[in-house]
Amino acid sequence: MLLLTFEGIDGSGKSTQARRLNEHLQEHGHETLLVREPGGTELSEQVRSILLEPDLNVHPMAELLLFSAARTQLVSERIRPALEAGQIVICDRFYDSTTAYQGAGRNVANPEWLQSFHHRVTDGLVPTRTYLVELDPATARARRTEDDPTDDRMEAEDEAFYHRVAAAYDALADEHPARIHRLDGHQSIDALHTEIRADVEALLDAAPGTPHTASGSSSP
Ligand code: ADP
Ligand code: TYD
Repeated sequence: MLLLTFEGIDGSGKSTQARRLNEHLQEHGHETLLVREPGGTELSEQVRSILLEPDLNVHPMAELLLFSAARTQLVSERIRPALEAGQIVICDRFYDSTTAYQGAGRNVANPEWLQSFHHRVTDGLVPTRTYLVELDPATARARRTEDDPTDDRMEAEDEAFYHRVAAAYDALADEHPARIHRLDGHQSIDALHTEIRADVEALLDAAPGTPHTASGSSSP
């Protein structure tokens, strides 16, 4: 079972890396599922539209529950079946986003409460590896606005919000050093991809019964 998740603040470059990894794995014969949060099922995409609607008034606890509702649906409808079918699942954001954005950004709940809550939401599913792309909030915002100058409801938050989110990610990485792999988001897209690939190849080598075809070079 391989569930690989990507985390970081908006504009850090994690979706670019999730896509690159997915293409690489598929080119090397792996069956994969790439999904994003919130999204990936009909219900979760509808919840996404509600959550990102710029002018909607959303209570912080309602926000926490809506992101989590979208996640429960995604796990049960797509992620678990894909894992059971032997696919590698790549998820662009997962519950660490909720700990960072709702827990720290909105100050809705403490990390201990959230940890047991996430356990209920995902029915105990924990990522095999989480790639945390770290980038300072000012650079991330500049990348984002160059890409698309309009802000959604979350992106409209100020610099202080994003500093709280980044600090929460930092604390999570300290707390879960075996699961969360930090990446310096200031590196080039290619350099980041190479680092992630090396780590995934090591995971594939360690996973019993998984044919190792990810690197190409070390395949029989
Ligand atoms: P996120 O998913 O974290 O919001 P994206 O992957 O969508 O971020 O990247 C945001 C923007 O930054 C895109 O225009 C993308 O091409 C660019 N970008 C991504 N990674 C890098 C990088 N390592 N260096 C420079 N620009 C990058
Ligand atoms: P998205 O456009 O997918 O942003 P990005 O490309 O940066 O991932 O929008 C998702 C937004 O929702 C993003 O601002 C992070 C936020 N979010 C939360 O606040 N909590 C969550 O649990 C998740 C999954 C996302």
